[in-house]
Amino acid sequence: MTGPLFLVGFMGSGKSAVGRRVAQQLDLEFRDCDRLIADAAGKTVEEIFREDGETAFRETESRVVDQLCTGGALVAATGGGAFLSFRPRSRMIVSGITVWLDVPLPVIRTRLAGERQNRPLYDRDDPVGMRLLYEKRMPSYALARHRVDGTDLDRSVEQVVRLTRER
Ligand code: S3P
Repeated sequence: MTGPLFLVGFMGSGKSAVGRRVAQQLDLEFRDCDRLIADAAGKTVEEIFREDGETAFRETESRVVDQLCTGGALVAATGGGAFLSFRPRSRMIVSGITVWLDVPLPVIRTRLAGERQNRPLYDRDDPVGMRLLYEKRMPSYALARHRVDGTDLDRSVEQVVRLTRER
């Protein structure tokens, strides 16, 4: 593997948890897009959304993706919205390995019910809205080169590692 490996998928699909472990197994650096965006802005993701708006967040996200695309071999967890726009998505597809961690919404719901991290676009009290957002995003995630069932974290790690060896 010479370029980056990008994990994409809906909020709560385990991109960071899986990414960290995959990086460890492959002895590569792990990068978390949201962390990099927050560091660049000097505030939390929630504060960026609240104070600067989603458009500003997406601009920084796109820049962070650009940097990761030229960073050589590494493992990156992207935010749930990073693979939706044409530019960052196509940059990721051409520069590295893209893997969609596909997790059914009920599993995501259970995971995020017990989560303390604040996600500005996830509203646990609006199951219909979350279903609509989930359905709307699926076709974009499906454009990733690989799809891995992310329901079981251990199995996902194994499968992602195997994918990197195939190429
Ligand atoms: C977002 C997902 C979040 C974060 C931001 C927007 C989204 O990342 O980038 O809150 O649009 O789905 P996670 O997927 O890690 O929750």
